[in-house]
Amino acid sequence: MHYETDYSLLLAQSRALIEGEPDSLANVSNLCALLFQTLDAVNWAGVYLLRGDELVLGPFQGQNACVRIAIGAGVCGTAVAERRLLCVDDVHQFDGHIACDAASQSEIVVPLIHNEQVLGVLDIDSPVKARFSAADERGLADIAQLLTHCMADHPQSVGLILNP
Ligand code: SME
Repeated sequence: MHYETDYSLLLAQSRALIEGEPDSLANVSNLCALLFQTLDAVNWAGVYLLRGDELVLGPFQGQNACVRIAIGAGVCGTAVAERRLLCVDDVHQFDGHIACDAASQSEIVVPLIHNEQVLGVLDIDSPVKARFSAADERGLADIAQLLTHCMADHPQSVGLILNP
């Protein structure tokens, strides 16, 4: 099954949604809600924030999820350790995958990196295997940049401390 998302529209809607609002917690929350509403066949969309040496659950839509993920653990922690986007077609084949929602079959995780500092990750799960295409990778990388700017411009709202 192939899912088409108009990412130029989604990016424009995302920018409009946060325009003029400095509070990054509110903005990240709204952006996660927009992703969850807009993307087909998605059962979880949210952000984990890097606090010290672990990821801690941030704003999200979907079922309640595990709160803390160590760097290097699961898909999220691996994306941080390797500082790269991970697109997993079948989470059951990913060694160490952390199952928060048993329905999840595929997953995409984009690290949020500002000036070489990892601020967190954008994590999206799907109940469909191989849900995310190269077009999704590109589009969600753009959305992740917007999330990163939001958080880096007002880090205190999301409880982050930027490196000097
Ligand atoms: N599956 C993730 C954990 C977070 S939930 O999907 C919301 C992982 O393996 O890191």
